[in-house]
Amino acid sequence: MNSFIRSHLHHWEAYVPGKQPKDLKIAPHHRIIKLNTNESPFILSEVSDRLQTLARSRSFHLNRYPDPSAEHLRATAGNILNIPQDHLVFANGSDEIISAIFRAYLGAGDSITLPSPTYGAYAVYSRLYNIKIEELELAADFLLSEENLTGTIGKVVFLPNPHAPSGNALAAKTLLSIIKKFPQKLFVIDEAYIDFNIKETLITEIANHPNLIILRTLSKAAALAGLRVGYAISRPDHIQILRKVLDPYNLNMIAQDLATLPFIHHKKIALLVQKIIAIRDKVTAELTTLGFKTIPSKTNFILTSPQNFTLHPKWTKLRLEKTTPPKNTTDTTNSLPKSLPSSKAQAQLLYSLLTEHQILVRYFPTPRLAPYLRITIGTERDMKRVITVLRSLQKAPKHQ
Ligand SMILES: Cc1ncc(COP(=O)(O)O)c(C=O)c1O
Repeated sequence: MNSFIRSHLHHWEAYVPGKQPKDLKIAPHHRIIKLNTNESPFILSEVSDRLQTLARSRSFHLNRYPDPSAEHLRATAGNILNIPQDHLVFANGSDEIISAIFRAYLGAGDSITLPSPTYGAYAVYSRLYNIKIEELELAADFLLSEENLTGTIGKVVFLPNPHAPSGNALAAKTLLSIIKKFPQKLFVIDEAYIDFNIKETLITEIANHPNLIILRTLSKAAALAGLRVGYAISRPDHIQILRKVLDPYNLNMIAQDLATLPFIHHKKIALLVQKIIAIRDKVTAELTTLGFKTIPSKTNFILTSPQNFTLHPKWTKLRLEKTTPPKNTTDTTNSLPKSLPSSKAQAQLLYSLLTEHQILVRYFPTPRLAPYLRITIGTERDMKRVITVLRSLQKAPKHQ
C-alpha cells in the first residue's frame, strides 16, 4: 500500500461513470446506441459552426489565460435567465460546483443530508472530503416529503429536482415549504434536468432565500456534455465564496465561448426538449404494453422495471450457461428455469442482453434500484430499436 496517499483514500470509491462505447469490444462499424448517461441525442449545429469560426479567428488567443470571471458568459446567461451577473458562477460541469460546495461550507464534524437513492457524486465527494452523510429514505415513488425530514439533518441538504435517478419531480411549492422550514440548513437544489419541467424551477426564489443554491448544467437539455459546463445560481455572498474556492482559471476559453450558444439559442433548445418529451412519453407507453412499470418521468430518462415483462426462458438459460460453465460435463439436463426470475434478476439480465445488442443503458446493483433499468431518451430511431430488441427477447433466441 502506498503510504504517501491519505489513508482514507485507499478505500475511497470514485464515481463510476456509465460504460463508454470503447469499453464494448465490438467491431467499429456496429452502431452503438448510448442511453446510459442522460446526454442529449441531438447536436446543435450552431456549436460546430462556431467552432469552425473560432478555429479561423485571429482574435481568439489561446496563448492567453481565459477570463477568470467568465464575464461574457455570465452576461449572456444572465440576460436570458433574467438573473443579475453576480448571482451566477460557471464551472467545469455542475460536478465541479458540487465539489466546491464541500470546500466552501463543510468541515470536520459537519454532515450532509441526501435522499436515498440519489445522484452518486454527492456521496462520492462527501467521502472524499470526509463528511458524514445522513440519508433520507425515499418512499416508493422516490419523492421526498416534509414528513421524511425528521431526525438529524445535515448542514447542507442536496436535493436534485427533478430527482435522479428516478425522474420523478416535486412541485416548486413543496420544495419551498421544506426550504422555509429549515432556515439554518443550506439547500442545494440540483436542477440538472429542470429544462424538462421548467415551470417548477426555483430560480425566481433566489432573492427570498439566503439558504438556497441552485445548480444547473449544460450537459443534458443543452446538448453540451462534452464541453463540461455547469453553473450555480444564488445570492452574491454564496457566489463569491464558490468563485473563491474554484480554481482561478477553471473554465477554458473555448468552453466560455461555446457555452453562450445554448443561452442564445434557447428557443431551439426548448424545441429539442419538447421533442425528447414526446419520444419519452411514446416509449413509456410502449414499455407499459411490454410489461414494464415506469416511474413517471419529468426528465430525459426513465427508470423502468420489467415487473411483468416475459423474457423468453431460453434467454435466461443461455445466460446462465454462459456465466456458469457446467461443473459436470457429462450432465445432459436441458431443462428451462423452473420459475420466472425476479424483476431484480430480470433487470440485470436485460441490462446484459441489451449491451450484447449494442444498446447501453444503466443498471445500478443497489437493493433499491436493482429491479430497474435507467434508460436515457435517445432519438426516435434509437428508442424504436430498444423496443424491437425487447420484443425479440420475448421470443426464443434464433441462434443457439
Ligand atoms: C442530478 C445530476 N446532477 C449533476 C450532474 C452532473 O452534471 P455535469 O455534467 O454538469 O457535471 C448529473 C449528471 O448526470 C446529474 O444527474
